[in-house]
Amino acid sequence: MTKKIVVMGTGYVGLPLAVMLARVGYEVIGVDIEENIVNAINEGVLHLAEEDIKEIFKEPEVRKNLRARKTPCEADVFIISVPTPLDEEKRVADLSQVINAVESIVPYLRPGNLVIVESTVPMLTCRNIIAPLLEKGGMKVGKDIYLCHCPERILPGEVFEEIVNNDRVIGGLDEKTAEMTREIYASFVKGNLYLTDDVTAEMVKLMENTSRDVSIALANEFAAVAEKLGVDIMEAIELANKHPRVNILKPGIGAGGHCIPVDPWFIKEVDSVNSRLIHIARQINDEVPLKIAAKIEDALNDIKNPRVIALGITYKPDTYDIRNSPALKIIDILKNRGYDVTPYDPLVEGYEYSSITEVAKDADCLVVLVEHRTIKEELAQKENEIKQTMRHPLIIRFYPETRKHRKNIR
Ligand SMILES: NC(=O)c1ccc[n+]([C@@H]2O[C@H](COP(=O)([O-])OP(=O)(O)OC[C@H]3O[C@@H](n4cnc5c(N)ncnc54)[C@H](O)[C@@H]3O)[C@@H](O)[C@H]2O)c1
Repeated sequence: MTKKIVVMGTGYVGLPLAVMLARVGYEVIGVDIEENIVNAINEGVLHLAEEDIKEIFKEPEVRKNLRARKTPCEADVFIISVPTPLDEEKRVADLSQVINAVESIVPYLRPGNLVIVESTVPMLTCRNIIAPLLEKGGMKVGKDIYLCHCPERILPGEVFEEIVNNDRVIGGLDEKTAEMTREIYASFVKGNLYLTDDVTAEMVKLMENTSRDVSIALANEFAAVAEKLGVDIMEAIELANKHPRVNILKPGIGAGGHCIPVDPWFIKEVDSVNSRLIHIARQINDEVPLKIAAKIEDALNDIKNPRVIALGITYKPDTYDIRNSPALKIIDILKNRGYDVTPYDPLVEGYEYSSITEVAKDADCLVVLVEHRTIKEELAQKENEIKQTMRHPLIIRFYPETRKHRKNIR
């Protein structure tokens, strides 16, 4: 096996993939338009906070097989892993970076080449948008060159574990292409590889994140109803989940991250008639940060010029990832309304602190937006001590663990 693979876009998805492919012996060229990323890779510096991948990146085989450059070159396989953000105004996929990346490889395509799209895209993108672009070079997809969609499922912070062990869905424009793609992924994936067509694979990826979004919206809606009635939502969910076929998620301060608030829109873009629930769930989750900010304002009502410390700025607990973070939205809303808010997060570079007791000193309110394990532990041990150092002993937490105050009754 001496295949050469070009990975277009060496970010959260592309770089770990490039590292894993280099580790199993492929000659890998990581291509990125950002010069500092290209230089970092060539200098042996991995710019992602993924400890396991960092270690593998240092292995001699990886250092030997992986190089980076700013422009593509000829290869056997091209993998597209560039961003597909949401066009915030039109609420549709912004495919401009995928289109640029695909156009940039066209001059280097040779007969027999395989192009794999890992970027998350709306259904029909591979066959209706990417295939025609590839064919501009004069070769036919399915005859001279091959196109496949293999969506990524990794969780930032757990990339090594997930890139190796997750099951993968491989959607070829035809069966031969899916088989060619299987060979590449089988070299490092221990999970199952499921072969299907491109449109199914595109839809599966979007369904996964949309299902999470709708479930989160339902939990948030239950929380709003419970609050109106004075019901403890965490206790209610705990009891409802005693049903053998019910699994309600926890409510929260909104749905964030790189995928969940974005991907449902890609389904709506393709079929708005049949995605009413998806649309409403998106709206419900988008409104949550506003409601949470209003709750914090209410709690601060009687305090003059309150000094607020916000703890946790990531999009969910125990990650360093701040993309589309509802916590940041809440902080912004409060700041725009004139509040003095200082954010801290032990897992995010530039926002670390020595201890909560230290940062809460002389504050009027400590609002815990994201309860990382370390925050939870310090609060459990030192809540009273923390309150004593504050000007007002006000700590706001949202949906902490269940109170479990009901006895088990047989
Ligand atoms: N991050 C995740 O957890 C995750 C999970 C599953 C799927 N995805 C999907 O994977 C895709 C990539 O996401 P990501 O998180 O790796 O993005 P990222 O922003 O971390 O990295 C993308 C890289 O592509 C580069 N790039 C942009 N245009 C380019 C071009 N024309 N040529 C070469 N490089 C180019 C950027 O400079 C950047 O370094 C997206 O479609 C995303 O939705 C991401």
